[in-house]
Amino acid sequence: MSLKNIDKQYVANTYARFDLEIVGGKGSRVYDDNGKEYIDLATGIAVNTFGIADDEWISAVSAQLAKFQHTSNLYYSSPCAILAKMLCEKTGAKRVFFGNSGAEANECAIKVARKWAQDTKGEEDYTIITLKNSFHGRTITTLMATGQDVFHKDFGPFPAGFAYAEANNAESVRKIVAEQTCCAIMMEMVQGEGGVLPLDKSFVEECVKIAKENDLLIIADEVQTGNGRCGTLYAYEQFGITPDIVSTAKGLGGGLPIGATMLFERVENTLNPGSHGSTFGGNPIACAGAISIISRLDEATLNGVKERSAYIFNSLNGAEGIKSVSGLGLMIGIETEKNSTEVLKACMENGILPIKAKTKIRLLPALNIPMEDLKRAIEIIKACAKGE
Ligand SMILES: Cc1ncc(COP(=O)(O)O)c(C=O)c1O
Repeated sequence: MSLKNIDKQYVANTYARFDLEIVGGKGSRVYDDNGKEYIDLATGIAVNTFGIADDEWISAVSAQLAKFQHTSNLYYSSPCAILAKMLCEKTGAKRVFFGNSGAEANECAIKVARKWAQDTKGEEDYTIITLKNSFHGRTITTLMATGQDVFHKDFGPFPAGFAYAEANNAESVRKIVAEQTCCAIMMEMVQGEGGVLPLDKSFVEECVKIAKENDLLIIADEVQTGNGRCGTLYAYEQFGITPDIVSTAKGLGGGLPIGATMLFERVENTLNPGSHGSTFGGNPIACAGAISIISRLDEATLNGVKERSAYIFNSLNGAEGIKSVSGLGLMIGIETEKNSTEVLKACMENGILPIKAKTKIRLLPALNIPMEDLKRAIEIIKACAKGE
């Protein structure tokens, strides 16, 4: 039986996989089972921050692997504490809770917001305002936080306490605040799964104002936008705000499962022993990988992200067959005149691996993708969008 057929028969049927088996790679190049080489423009959906099998990341992870792989949260262990300190010092957060995925980071953010409201406001103040077209995860609660009806079927009943405002429409946020008892406004600075759409800075600022006036928390879901992806350590920095809670995952571990919920001053003491937990959260190997990623996200790397981003925008804006280019840093959505599924297929045939976001082509390359690979990939995208 071929590997593809084994997978089709035995793995839960939740993914419409491409007809492609990846067997290895290095940096921004990956190889399939036939030896065909591709330029990777998706990094496992914004996960492999410095590409495949990056030497520095491998040595950080291997060094920890040789010491101990897991201890549980019953004991102290260095990688978890060091990573939390690093994240706090770099962002101004006071404490960090570690889980294993983006959805879990958001679950924690939601629990913290609800408990903070119970502790400081009242039991009724549990509603969290999220934005239409958002995506926050696939647990029952984060599905409900997700502001897209398509995710609110099949698995009901869903938890109450979420209300959806229009992105970039502060009046719509104000209306919910006036009608319901709320505790937080939660948003992605760039709606990723929703089509790589950055929020307007003025809207984000207005949400902060509404939050101040009404004693609400701001939760930034930086699961996809975070960890250098948008050209700053976290994308909220470019929107001139400091959230109360920041959730992140994906690129943080550079390829290992980790989620982090950063708790700023207003909620630093909301969680206490027994109020939340995770067996694997703060796992030493995942944290060692994350320490190596975070310590490399310096000014030079972030400037490199901005340069590569500018190159992509300049090359694609106005190109034949390209309707629009959206996004921030190396999180980019391309609207094509031709059907994007056809464009994607042509891209793969021509040796590059972007993915899709709704009807757009989405690029999430390694933050250090070599310029010559990026240039080649952009020429292929242009050719495929044009129809050569
Ligand atoms: C903004 C955002 N939040 C949450 C999630 C869920 O993350 P995970 O798949 O790691 O649970 C995603 C995943 O795409 C995301 O993009």
